Amino acid sequence: MSTTTYEEPAPTPLALLLLGRGSDPASERGVDCPGDLPAASDPDLVARARAAKAALGDRVFVLGHHYQRDEVIEFADVTGDSFKLARDAADRPEAEFIVFCGVHFMAESADILTTPGQQVILPDLAAGCSMADMATAEQVAECWDALTDAGVADTVVPVAYMNSSADIKAFTGSHGGTICTSSNAKRALEWAFEQGSKVLFLPDQHLGRNTAVRELGIGLDECVVYNPHKPGGGLTVEQLRAAKMILWRGHCSVHGRFSLDSVDEVRERVPGVTVLVHPECKHEVVEAADMVGSTEYIIKALEAAEPGSKWAIGTELNLVRRLAKAHPDKEVVFLDRTVCFCSTMNRIDLPHLVWALESLVEGRVPNVITVDPQTAKHARAALDQMLALP
Ligand code: 13P
Ligand code: SF4
Repeated sequence: MSTTTYEEPAPTPLALLLLGRGSDPASERGVDCPGDLPAASDPDLVARARAAKAALGDRVFVLGHHYQRDEVIEFADVTGDSFKLARDAADRPEAEFIVFCGVHFMAESADILTTPGQQVILPDLAAGCSMADMATAEQVAECWDALTDAGVADTVVPVAYMNSSADIKAFTGSHGGTICTSSNAKRALEWAFEQGSKVLFLPDQHLGRNTAVRELGIGLDECVVYNPHKPGGGLTVEQLRAAKMILWRGHCSVHGRFSLDSVDEVRERVPGVTVLVHPECKHEVVEAADMVGSTEYIIKALEAAEPGSKWAIGTELNLVRRLAKAHPDKEVVFLDRTVCFCSTMNRIDLPHLVWALESLVEGRVPNVITVDPQTAKHARAALDQMLALP
């Protein structure tokens, strides 16, 4: 019998790198963590995290996104969606260190909104976001050139989802646009259509389409999809001129996997179930669901639900599992049995959090996320526009 030894696959430009190993500087993820990570099997991890946090006191403020693991959420001073967390960070000017348990674009936004004296730390630099990676500054500049060539650029207002890099936010700010989140996308689009006659929505085509069609009554035929991998986005000049919504061809690797079949299957499996999904899901899934809303909306809907009611939730699994645990009087199931955790959100685990906190105690500031001042200035304009939305 022959024995096989495991060989770690060589990193490729497309591979999702193994936790904290290898380097992929062209994406948000995949940068080595310098220093020694504690072993995941260390039985003292919880005690070590507690001790390090206590030693740091008010100097550190730990933020936890709703999609983080339970073991990490336990140490968060506040939890929330990406918008709420950015505001929470901005409201804590006395904290020297903001440890962001979330993904890279969230830490960037926190850096933009906090004071220059504060440092934002991402416990694992490999925690990026595949959706944010789907729109690069270069691709968006090419898109703008295509819109200019088609003679429509001066009628287009960019609206960028919070889930985008600081570069994309800066592009949006310097072209008179706004940032939005899944909870204020309707208001952002209404505002944008008061400024111009077309919107370039990026990077999530699904949030853009769902909001435009369901909340603003825009026709599906008035939406076009700009594919950054095709010349001119794969669209003709006539299509660009006729469109109201130009949707960037990006999606969330988690929410984009829920399907119409998942909805049909759960309705059969759990009679009387209410299907509640995040607007990053595909249009057909959102149309088939009973309720649609952001992470914060989903949490509030469950809090308001009647005991004994049944819910199938289409969002990230860590959050759905916590909701099921928090509401034992209700039946809460995950919308699809095969969809997985968000792999990049899950990169922040207890060993990385302990490593980050203990490094701070020892006087080393690890994994600082900084946005250069020029980018931050324009990105801030787009974020401020969002904060000023009616
Ligand atoms: P929110 O943080 O706005 O709920 O967005 C969902 C998401 O996919 C975060 O990565
Ligand atoms: Fe990105 Fe989707 Fe993961 Fe959020 S859940 S970090 S949008 S891949």
